[in-house]
Amino acid sequence: MRFSAHKFFYILSITVFSVGCSQQVSYQNDVKPIIDNNCISCHDGKGQGSEASGFVLLTYDDLMKGTRYGQVVTPGNSLSSTLYLMIDHQVDPKIQMPPHHENVADGKMGPLTGAQINTIKTWIDQGAKNN
Ligand code: HEC
Repeated sequence: MRFSAHKFFYILSITVFSVGCSQQVSYQNDVKPIIDNNCISCHDGKGQGSEASGFVLLTYDDLMKGTRYGQVVTPGNSLSSTLYLMIDHQVDPKIQMPPHHENVADGKMGPLTGAQINTIKTWIDQGAKNN
């Protein structure tokens, strides 16, 4: 059977639409594993990240409480969420998270992947729910 280019793009656009728009990101299944693997080592309540900023990442409530200066997640709006801006390289390299710039003591940590950053962004834009 000949597979027309039309049909291909039709199917492609449906796939992009359903993956991009309607998939509900889960805190427990999608966001927490990223935090556990990339942030907890320094933000567990006694690590250098929580000591310096007061930001603990053990539970959903900790995450939503933010740093000692206030919230870093604005539910429904990733672009005004400090946490998102920090993981997506939209801040000074010295404060990107996880720290991976040569100016930072622990500069050897890698940045999050594009897919991980997008998962957290989408979760915030969907309301940052405890789901
Ligand atoms: C290697 C240790 C380390 C890891 C891993 C780490 N952090 Fe941090 N984090 C720090 C330190 C140190 C600070 C304090 C920086 C400062 O105040 O200059 C900090 C501060 C923060 C702040 C507060 C910034 C502010 O302006 O008050 C946020 C938000 C944050 N980290 C998010 C994260 C997230 C999200 C991850 C995982 C993707 C992560 N961090 C991983 C060490 C770490």
